[in-house]
Amino acid sequence: MDIAVIGSNMVDLISYINRMPRDGETVEAPDFALGCGGKGANQAVAAARLGSAVRMVTRVGNDLFADNTVANFERNGIDTTYVLRTAATSGVAPIFVNPDSQNSIIIVQGANSLLTPADIDAAATEISKCKLIVLQLEIPLETVYYAIDFGVKHGIDVLLNPAPAQPDLLLSRVRACTYFTPNESELSLLTGMPVETIPDVRNAAHTLLEAGMRNVIVTLGGRGVLWVAEGVDMLLPATPVEAVDTTGAGDAFIGCFSHYVVATGDIEYSLRMANRYAAD
Ligand code: RIB
Repeated sequence: MDIAVIGSNMVDLISYINRMPRDGETVEAPDFALGCGGKGANQAVAAARLGSAVRMVTRVGNDLFADNTVANFERNGIDTTYVLRTAATSGVAPIFVNPDSQNSIIIVQGANSLLTPADIDAAATEISKCKLIVLQLEIPLETVYYAIDFGVKHGIDVLLNPAPAQPDLLLSRVRACTYFTPNESELSLLTGMPVETIPDVRNAAHTLLEAGMRNVIVTLGGRGVLWVAEGVDMLLPATPVEAVDTTGAGDAFIGCFSHYVVATGDIEYSLRMANRYAAD
């Protein structure tokens, strides 16, 4: 296996709205779609579609959504040995996309909140054969910390995408990851620093290097992506695109970067490929 994604899966309930209802109000929305989502699952699918061998370690519920999620992993060639059934509801994400293509997302973790360090131990033999562990923050933080420690112990690179933003994330517990990939608002939350301008973003990213991170990769939407590491400070422009629905674009970026960095070991090339892929 190339990549182990230890993370979330959700059922995306996507309403295309004219506007959000006010408190106590009902409004009609013109369109709806049901999709397989969750940051972990989205990243796993992107990497697998590009050709990586991907193992997913996650928990689904015991409801009608679970079979569909497992079937989607299988359709995409993802190993589902450690997609665990749980006596809980599956994770769901009601998503509202407005006419300007901006999305608002609510996540209900459901079974994802029950993914534990013991689940990592149960899959330890297989995870330890992977070249990269990919993590996000839609599972308990203790499981994320444990997965990073597991990667360090077994000499496996670890990518942490600190999304959605989690004010409780302890930088001291995650600084050993190989790649840390916040977007600008997550970077601001974690550092307490402004990110309005590119120099602001640079300053904030460098504080993470000073805190012991190795590769800080800040995704900046239309402004591109900033990579800072020891001796590296590189702003790669975004691929120009007219956005229709940006849901999952960040996950496509992470999945694609993961695929190429495992395949080539070339971080700059992998970032350029991920920029293009996320824009599609
Ligand atoms: O990043 C997009 C994802 O965030 C959606 O698929 C939704 O499930 C939430 O997890």
